[in-house]
Amino acid sequence: MNEPSSWVLRHAGYIPEGSDVLDLACGTGRHARLFLMSGHYVTALDKNTAALSDLDNHPGTEIILADLEDGSPFPLSNKKFGGIIVTNYLYRPLLPLLPELLLPNGVLIYETFMVGNEKFGRPKSPNFLLKPQELLDEYYSRLRVQSYEETTIPEPNPAVVQRICAVNSA
Ligand SMILES: C[S@@+](CC[C@H](N)C(=O)[O-])C[C@H]1O[C@@H](n2cnc3c(N)ncnc32)[C@H](O)[C@@H]1O
Repeated sequence: MNEPSSWVLRHAGYIPEGSDVLDLACGTGRHARLFLMSGHYVTALDKNTAALSDLDNHPGTEIILADLEDGSPFPLSNKKFGGIIVTNYLYRPLLPLLPELLLPNGVLIYETFMVGNEKFGRPKSPNFLLKPQELLDEYYSRLRVQSYEETTIPEPNPAVVQRICAVNSA
């Protein structure tokens, strides 16, 4: 699971060179690390940042310890990013906020589980499973969609995912 997602790898090059990248609900920071290696300044946010302690003093990193679901104001509303990465995390109230955080030509790369994943295991709750076309139709239709898929992936574990790469071309 510490390897970057193939979807993120495939679309990372759309993110403007040298721009600030947000890894939201970053976990161990597999994508934060990917973008640090390619010369981006990275903001890595999670409610548990213990796995990021090796990046504490890294000059290109801001680590934010925050609970995105506790009702407090979204901690990043004053910042804009050239790239936003969200993988394997879904909290629907955040979805409409993400385009507001993109700079012009900024890129959203989002990949998480969708309905159908129940047959493989967790997550099984509808709260954590996207509906068909949900990212495309309900949240990001005003962005320029570069790629979109609903598919079963074999690795790291079989899972049904929905994934999008979309650009703020407004
Ligand atoms: C399945 S992991 C995915 C981690 C990372 N995005 C990746 O794909 O490697 C889900 C992450 O969401 C974080 N998370 C869950 N609820 C959260 C919340 N309320 N606020 C902030 N982060 C949260 C967890 O701590 C965990 O790191």
